[in-house]
Amino acid sequence: MANILTAFFLISTCQTLTVLRGVNSHGDAHKCRSYCGNLTVDYPFAVQSGCGHSGYRDLLFCINDVLMLHISSGSYRVLDIDYAYESLTLDDPHMSTCSSIVFGHRGNGFVVERWREPYLNPTADNVFMLLGCTAESPLFQGFPGKHLPCRNVSGMGCEEYYGCPGWDIIGPKKVGVVYGSGPPDCCAVSFEAIKAINLTKLSCQGYSSAYSLAPLRVDGPHGWSYGIRVKYSVEGDDSFCKACEATGGSCGYDVNDFSSLCMCGSWNSTSNCDSVHSASHRRTWSLMDALTGLVGCISIWKLSATLGL
Ligand SMILES: *[C@@H]1O[C@H](CO)[C@@H](O)[C@H](O)[C@H]1NC(C)=O
Ligand SMILES: *[C@@H]1O[C@H](CO)[C@@H](O)[C@H](O)[C@H]1NC(C)=O
Ligand SMILES: *[C@@H]1O[C@H](CO)[C@@H](O)[C@H](O)[C@H]1NC(C)=O
Ligand SMILES: *[C@@H]1O[C@H](CO)[C@@H](O)[C@H](O)[C@H]1NC(C)=O
Repeated sequence: MANILTAFFLISTCQTLTVLRGVNSHGDAHKCRSYCGNLTVDYPFAVQSGCGHSGYRDLLFCINDVLMLHISSGSYRVLDIDYAYESLTLDDPHMSTCSSIVFGHRGNGFVVERWREPYLNPTADNVFMLLGCTAESPLFQGFPGKHLPCRNVSGMGCEEYYGCPGWDIIGPKKVGVVYGSGPPDCCAVSFEAIKAINLTKLSCQGYSSAYSLAPLRVDGPHGWSYGIRVKYSVEGDDSFCKACEATGGSCGYDVNDFSSLCMCGSWNSTSNCDSVHSASHRRTWSLMDALTGLVGCISIWKLSATLGL
C-alpha cells in the first residue's frame, strides 16, 4: 500500500513539475489581464505593478470588487472601460447630478498629474458645470463686463441644467451670459478650456459633469449621463504591445525606469517573445531544464523502487 502511495505521489509531483515548466517556457499572453467585479482590466491598464503601460501605473485599484481610479484630485469609481473607444467612465459620489446639487467643496473635480496628462483627459464632449463659484474665481477674471467663459458643450449647459429638480431647494440666480449682478450659480466649460477642474483654485462650491453617448441630441438634463468620460491613449507605444501579444507575451514595463517590457513567461524582452537572439537561447535553456527535470524525476522514482519504498 505504502509503495503504491509513494509511487503515486512521485508521479504527481513529476507531472506537476513538467506542466509548470511547460507553462513557463511558453509566453502567457493573459498573465496581466485581470478582473475587478464585472470589469475586465486589460492593457494599457493593470492592477498589478509591472503590468500594462507605464502611463497608467499606480492608477487603478481593485478594492472589494470595486475598481477605483486614483489621481491627484482624488479617487473615483470606474463604472466602465470601453476598450474599443478608448474611454473610461468615472463616478465621483460627491458630484452633483440632476436630482441632487452638492455644495460645500466636497467634490473632487478633475486634476491629473502633469506627467500623466498625455495619457488621460476628459473627452471633448464631456461638460463640467462649475457650481457656486465666487466672483473672485479665476474663471471670471479677464472677462470685463461682457463675456463669460461659460459655454454649452455638446449641447449641454447650465440653462438646461437649472431645470433639474436638484435646484428646487437652492433656487439658482438665473443670470444670463452677461456678467452683471454677481456671478452665475453655474458655469459650464469643457476640460480643454481650463485644463484642470480644481475646485479650490477655481473657488467653486461644487460641480457636476455630464456626457451624452447618444449620437442624437438628448432632450434635457434628465437624459444626460452624469459622470466623467475620460479618453485614454497610448499612441506610439501601441505597436510594441501588439507585437508582444502576437508572440504570446504580456505587455508591461520595467518598474525601475518605466521602459516597455514584453513578459514572455520565464524572461522579459525589450521587443517581443520571438526576438531572435535571447529568445532562441532561452528556449533552449527551458527545454534543457524540462528534460533535466524529467530525467531527475525518473531517477528518483527508480531509486525509490529499488530501495523498496
Ligand atoms: C456591473 O455591475 C454593476 C453593479 O455592480 C452594474 O450596474 C453594471 O451594469 C454591470 N456592468 C456590466 C457590463 O455588466
Ligand atoms: C519581468 O518584468 C516584470 C515587471 O517589471 C517583473 O515583475 C518580473 O520579475 C520580470 N521577470 C523576470 C524574469 O525578470
Ligand atoms: C488645487 O489648487 C490648490 C490651490 O491653488 C492647490 O493647493 C492644490 O494642490 C490643487 N490641487 C490639485 C489636485 O492640484
Ligand atoms: C445653451 O443652450 C441653451 C438651450 O439650447 C440656450 O438657451 C443658451 O443660450 C445656450 N447658452 C450659451 C452660453 O450658448
